[in-house]
Amino acid sequence: MLPNLIKHILSSEAQSREVEVYGWVRTKRDMKNLVFLEVNDGSCFTSIQCAFDRSFGFDAKTEAALCSVTTGASVKISGKLVPSPAAGQKVEVAAFSLTVLGEAPAETAGDIKAYPLQKKRHSLEYLREIAHLRPRTNTFSAVARLRSRAAFIIHRYFQERDFHYLHTPVITSGDCEGAGAMFQVTTLEPSASAPDYSNDFFGRKTFLTVSGQLEAETYATAISRVYTFGPTFRAENSNTARHLAEFWMVEPEVAFAELKDDMALAEDFLKYTIKAVLSECADEIAFFNTHIEKGILENLHHVAEARFTHITYTDAVKELERTAAKNKSLFEFEPRWGCDLQSEHEKYLTEKIAEGPVIVTDYPKEIKAFYMKQNDDGKTVRAMDVLVPRLGEIIGGSQREDNLEKLILRMKETGLRHDDYNWYLDLRRYGTVVHSGFGLGFERFIQYITGMANIRDVIPYPRAAGQAYF
Ligand code: 4AD
Ligand code: MG
Repeated sequence: MLPNLIKHILSSEAQSREVEVYGWVRTKRDMKNLVFLEVNDGSCFTSIQCAFDRSFGFDAKTEAALCSVTTGASVKISGKLVPSPAAGQKVEVAAFSLTVLGEAPAETAGDIKAYPLQKKRHSLEYLREIAHLRPRTNTFSAVARLRSRAAFIIHRYFQERDFHYLHTPVITSGDCEGAGAMFQVTTLEPSASAPDYSNDFFGRKTFLTVSGQLEAETYATAISRVYTFGPTFRAENSNTARHLAEFWMVEPEVAFAELKDDMALAEDFLKYTIKAVLSECADEIAFFNTHIEKGILENLHHVAEARFTHITYTDAVKELERTAAKNKSLFEFEPRWGCDLQSEHEKYLTEKIAEGPVIVTDYPKEIKAFYMKQNDDGKTVRAMDVLVPRLGEIIGGSQREDNLEKLILRMKETGLRHDDYNWYLDLRRYGTVVHSGFGLGFERFIQYITGMANIRDVIPYPRAAGQAYF
């Protein structure tokens, strides 16, 4: 039998039954005859109050533990669950024994520093420096619980709709996004100036994957509906609040689906997951709404019900140009057809023009990946990005190029050696089909739903340029 979780103890009826509490001490109040310990085990926000009444007399071991126990120590407490006279809690523990399982010194002694999470508010920047201890705080335990539940909800969404969970490789030899921002994987000595990769471990140059899409396409064009959900890696040196070098991506891929089906799937998927998180993580969302981003609860409810605005890239740029002409100092970067939308443009589109999520479609082919289906105008591709207020791009997707000749030509134009992608081109040689998919950045989704400003605070161990400690 596993030990009780505080979450379950708190929600049970106080019938003077005996309970054992395991957790870490959040606070201690010693009032001569009465000692109160607030104990938390991260199963929920609320700590359980354990009251030690000295007038009953404790054994010497418990008495010594009561004197020495400090914030951060791990403890085992036995007592009776009784109705609580204190406001805000139904039950508390009338405790009769305390064992300190692991101390957490309040003062620095030799090599061991004082427990760094004393009872006060710590900045998120400070907590990033002690990433291994931050799940002991309310904010990070809430993120961890919500993140776990959100992953489960995402699996449920796809599994209930006959999508198969596909495990795509972490090590690949291709560059799916064609952006060249890849981490190389090699066992060769770093000193070699012109390394011969035929001597490398895999006999060729290999990288950490930037996306599981190409591999997902091969399975979608065989078993119809698949999705991946795994780590992806990008060596972009962008030090922003929404980029990581290692992040988790959810990538559905659907055979016989066009761009419009893909957009409908993305909208339905986002709304479902938002609604489910709001209802299944209600305590966590209430916390984020109070302490992190006021109004987020109402905003997310609105998003889950509203229709997403659709606009082509060309029309979006026209709108932005009109706005920029009227207010010259509004944007740092001038909106111009052919350039990528900057995050200030994405913010303006979602927050000021649409006042909600926007799906931008049909981007210029030059700023998108080689695999996207080309439109008849010869200039644009069937791409779609879902942009949301506060954050900008949360989903990127497209219909895929299913025409072999066009795909080979595009690969040549973008400098990809199509010989390396013969396996991928075979999908267009044998039984090619219209197919589409998208990628959701899981951390961006968690950021969006929690209101956490920095993406490094929604993943347990953030990886970014210059940051791989822990
Ligand atoms: O737009 P991206 O690059 O699209 C793809 O990788 C496609 N292969 C997806 C597909 O069609 N199957 O990335 C998809 C999403 C972005 O919209 C963003 O949410 C997230 O992944 N993303 C990042 N998240 C955190 N850090 C980064 N460096 C990210 N780069 C992309
Ligand atoms: Mg993108």
